[in-house]
Amino acid sequence: MKRWLLILALISAQAALAAPDGKRLYEENCSACHQSEGKGGIGLPLTDEILAQLSDEYIAKTIRNGRPGRIMPSFETLSDAQVGAILKYIRGWSTKPAPVFPKVAKRGDPARGKPLYEKNCQRCHGKDGSGEGSGTGVTLSREREFMVMPAALNNPGFQRSASDAMIADIIRRGRRIGGMPSFRKKLSEGQIGDVVAYLRTLQPPPPVRGSEEWAGKAAYVMESPYGFDETVEALKQAITGANFRIFPARYLEQGLTDEFSVDTRQIGIRFCNFKELYHLLNIDPRLGTVLPCRINVLERNGKVLLVSPNIVELSKLFNNRELSEVAVIMEEIILAVMEEATL
Ligand code: HEC
Ligand code: HEC
Repeated sequence: MKRWLLILALISAQAALAAPDGKRLYEENCSACHQSEGKGGIGLPLTDEILAQLSDEYIAKTIRNGRPGRIMPSFETLSDAQVGAILKYIRGWSTKPAPVFPKVAKRGDPARGKPLYEKNCQRCHGKDGSGEGSGTGVTLSREREFMVMPAALNNPGFQRSASDAMIADIIRRGRRIGGMPSFRKKLSEGQIGDVVAYLRTLQPPPPVRGSEEWAGKAAYVMESPYGFDETVEALKQAITGANFRIFPARYLEQGLTDEFSVDTRQIGIRFCNFKELYHLLNIDPRLGTVLPCRINVLERNGKVLLVSPNIVELSKLFNNRELSEVAVIMEEIILAVMEEATL
């Protein structure tokens, strides 16, 4: 008898080891943006009411596809079992069953849908369904009039994940938390089909292009012909010459390790033109988290390097045209300063 219990205990312990842990996976991969139990943060809320509108297929596809240009990454390396475990964990917050939508829904006429979209949806979801580009989720940079930023409907990750029938259902019911009204009484079934058809024609605008040479690279890197200290001086001069104010410099390891083991051969020079900075923060306060006004000087294997994050690549995370345009201007300035300092 005892032996059987032991064997049973061993088998269930093994099963627990083999099955992916949805809670842990959610906490590792999702909660930074969606918060614990899907309260919503940078990511949209995944609460009871909202989950009742989202099919399992949609959630799984959303995890796989992400939202390119709207911060949510695509989780291509999670196994099907892991995606399934996350889904099961998320569903556990919901008191209602997962909705199931018909595979095929009657799609309407996009030409009739366009004016309906402009009249009923555009003020929140933006022209061309761009989500106004000014924020995501419930926290970062949302406009105060919204409890939750309206999602980008032209996003390829959304378009590939959501079925026509599910989108029609969201339009019918609205979303109470985000303040999206129900259109059940305002639009006929045929008109809802027309709006869905119009949404299917929406595409994200082509990305703003910065310097060809640095496109796709995470950082600008230039080698200096001078020694470390001269390079720091030359950089400061180039920055002041370009009309920027310099903040106190920081060693890159400062605060990360004790003061005696800080490597003084790597330093970050932070600078800004305050007018430009406020302009940027006005467009998108999230930029505060990735402020680009910084060039690092590093000594590596006898070489002195200037390194700065590629602001045009960073700005692509935000899917905000105005921000990307400013990023292109900032890129020009940063590259000019780096070139001047290494001349
Ligand atoms: C870096 C931030 C980030 C991470 C990490 C992230 N998300 Fe998201 N998620 C978002 C944002 C932002 C949106 C909304 C995009 C928009 O506004 O267009 C979103 C949207 C969603 C949606 C669509 C919600 C709806 O109402 O249609 C689901 C579902 C979702 N995320 C699930 C997940 C899951 C599950 C994970 C972990 C595997 C995850 N997300 C990880 C930021 C994130
Ligand atoms: C008053 C503002 C407002 C209006 C008007 C509005 N929406 Fe929304 N909508 C939102 C908000 C906010 C969200 C995100 C809510 C959330 O997830 O909690 C949203 C979410 C959605 C979603 C889900 C997107 C996703 O990623 O999950 C769809 C689809 C949608 N809206 C379509 C429409 C359509 C089509 C119309 C017009 C018929 C419309 N909305 C009108 C505010 C609005």
